[in-house]
Amino acid sequence: MLINEMKKINIKKKKILIRLDLNVPIKNKKITSHARIKASIPTIKLALKNKAKIIIISHLGRPKEGKFKKKYSLLPIVKYLKKILYKTKIYFSKKINNKIKIKFGEILILENVRFNIGEYKNNIELSKKYASLCEIFVMDAFGTSHRKEASTYGVGIYSKITCAGPLFISEIKSLKKSLKNPKRPLVTILGGSKISTKFKILKKLAKISDTVIVGGGIANTFLSINNNVGKSIHEKNFINLAQQLIKNYNIIIPKDLKVQKKTSKKIIYLNKKYNNIKNNEEIMDIGEKSIKKAKKIIKKAKTIIWNGPIGVFENINFRKGTKKIAQFISKNKTAFSLAGGGDTLSVIKMFNIKEKISYISTGGGAFLEFIEGKELPTIKMLKKRFILKKIKR
Ligand code: 3PG
Repeated sequence: MLINEMKKINIKKKKILIRLDLNVPIKNKKITSHARIKASIPTIKLALKNKAKIIIISHLGRPKEGKFKKKYSLLPIVKYLKKILYKTKIYFSKKINNKIKIKFGEILILENVRFNIGEYKNNIELSKKYASLCEIFVMDAFGTSHRKEASTYGVGIYSKITCAGPLFISEIKSLKKSLKNPKRPLVTILGGSKISTKFKILKKLAKISDTVIVGGGIANTFLSINNNVGKSIHEKNFINLAQQLIKNYNIIIPKDLKVQKKTSKKIIYLNKKYNNIKNNEEIMDIGEKSIKKAKKIIKKAKTIIWNGPIGVFENINFRKGTKKIAQFISKNKTAFSLAGGGDTLSVIKMFNIKEKISYISTGGGAFLEFIEGKELPTIKMLKKRFILKKIKR
């Protein structure tokens, strides 16, 4: 691969800045899947083994720039890392230009990069500020590799040396290998709440898939073409695209649903048909008929791509759709199953099916964009830095 690799360059006693994807799902102040943090540990250990001065940066969620909000603080993740790496001195700082002097073999974690003004827009000044912190920049946030932001892209342009971390390299290699001539039928299951990110990808995914089963906000957007979806999450801006997709591809939309209705005194749970949702109702899960239909399709699949829960699985009353889909995927022993995404990792953990999925990626949107064949901006940046390095020689 035409990319500098952390494993192949000298990082001994160097000051290195590592961009990780520590964007883990947190529900009721608890981390519900540690998978992304655990996947980053070998990279941190490699740096520790080389007695580097380590600075770690990451985002968490999508906060507004320039405003600190506790909900998006990396503090719970720092606490978890302190437990795992209990022998290592770990500092945490809210500021980029901090005065904390770290020694060789010590770690400094900086607060959520998305609190910094200019992060989302890949601001040059901010990128240079990050770059000035280190001798070597390591991009290891595969999960955020589809974002051209100051801490994923710009910093890599302005750092003295830029390379990719081991997780980044292994994700690319494994995904490439698993997608070489996929066996058919190829079934994609796409759910979750990040509607806009996923809709853009859905067109390409639908093209390469034989069948796409949709759930969550994406399914609601399809349903909203001709039906009232009440209070359910959906994106009006994508209705036109949804109309085109449904005409041209085999997209399975749930026709029976589980909804909730909140009154001042209680929450009422109902089973409803897709064309009978009222203004005060909210779609929360798929119903029995849709589960049965999905079972038939998943059973016959030879390749499965899975991203996102089908319903609001965090709520026990609306867990069944996601649980069943997860079980159908895990029971299909003849198919090659690929799964990725923050919430998908939580689902895999909740239903204990990790060993039964052929490949689990730490990426969500990045995983999907990679599958659709797009060159991710950070890969472009890493290649650019590799070429520049060659020219300099
Ligand atoms: C993800 O969860 O897919 C990544 O961490 C990227 O997060 P983002 O979609 O908020 O950029």
